[in-house]
Amino acid sequence: MVLAPLKRILLVGSGGIALVKLPALIRMLRRQGYELRLVLTENAARFITPLTFETLLDHPVYIDPFARRDNLLHIGLRKWAEMAVLVPGTANMIAKLAHGIADDLASAVLLGAGGTAIPRIVCPAMNDAMWEAPATRRNIEQLIRDGWRMAGPVTGELACGDDAPGRMAEPEEIFRVIESLSAGDKRAPYKIVITAGATEEDIDAVRCITNHSSGRMGAALAEAARERFMDVVCIHGALRVPPPQGVRLIEARSARAMLQAVQSEIADANALVMAAAVADFVPDVKAAGKIKKSGSGMDLHLVPAPDILLETRALRARAGFHTTGFALESDALAEYAQEKLAAKYLDAIVANPCSEPGAGFGSETNRAVYLTKDGAREDWPTMPKREMADRILDRVLLALSETKK
Ligand code: C5P
Repeated sequence: MVLAPLKRILLVGSGGIALVKLPALIRMLRRQGYELRLVLTENAARFITPLTFETLLDHPVYIDPFARRDNLLHIGLRKWAEMAVLVPGTANMIAKLAHGIADDLASAVLLGAGGTAIPRIVCPAMNDAMWEAPATRRNIEQLIRDGWRMAGPVTGELACGDDAPGRMAEPEEIFRVIESLSAGDKRAPYKIVITAGATEEDIDAVRCITNHSSGRMGAALAEAARERFMDVVCIHGALRVPPPQGVRLIEARSARAMLQAVQSEIADANALVMAAAVADFVPDVKAAGKIKKSGSGMDLHLVPAPDILLETRALRARAGFHTTGFALESDALAEYAQEKLAAKYLDAIVANPCSEPGAGFGSETNRAVYLTKDGAREDWPTMPKREMADRILDRVLLALSETKK
């Protein structure tokens, strides 16, 4: 079913310096024929005078819920809007939305927008320490669960001069996200599924078999994909690093649970990156309760775990779908990776060494050989995992854009 594009957009600006990017966004949207209304918080109105926006919008700006003697202003605006965009989204405003606090016009109207479930976009903008604070992490996770779409933030220059995550997306990028939501499925962003971390296979009620994967590579990939404005789902096992922020998280502890989550999420996705360290062997049965300690030891019988890449082969075998796998090897990196590339029906594989300082499990950095099914080979030197994640995603996006042509 093709729906008419959504054209009535409610913009809400909260008080951060990134508000300076809003005029450019307003210009782009108006040029494209969008009808706009703007609500500012009181703090936002201290950053940029409402008169600037009123001139650009050719319409009054709303700040005080009572100024126009209209007690139902927040409801009227919410009923009018077909989409709501919080730009910029400060840590404070994000916290209020996550908790349903509605103590000014801006937060009240956005709370109502959640109730009617119109498309909602948040463009976070804050200092990196505030972005990474546990409270913000919880709040962002909550907004994603509540159906908010994230546009940014990206890593870049912050108000304090540091180069770090928390910088608001550029107006052109926010415009593209609005356009894609406005047009419905027609211009939906690429959906990417990324697995991360270690699986845990239960032996009994209290013990499990796992591995030393930290999840750092997968988390870096998920954040790098978010910064490329993809629709990101991160399916993760055990993580020893904070979960990636600003993406949809699905916990899947065991190989079987991860297989099920991957199967259901890739059905409508464009790409899969299997960075998780999935068990190769699992106990054949999980004992009920706790196995009693005994002086004579115990036998554990292991059977092969489901291989997620192999089991999803048919689902992935559609035109334009792109799969990247990983290979952790102790020697002959490129040779084993080449075999795995073919055996697991991959488009690309990232082979990294497991017995080298500065690479593999747990390390902050990684070294890799990158191979594609078309025969390309790149030797990547030791670099931060985030930088490697950027390289991998640039190649995924390039491959996706080439098949779309
Ligand atoms: O065969 P090996 O475990 O070396 O292959 C590594 C690649 O296969 C990784 O991308 C990993 O996520 C994936 N894998 C899988 N299912 C398993 C084991 C590994 O999809 N049971």
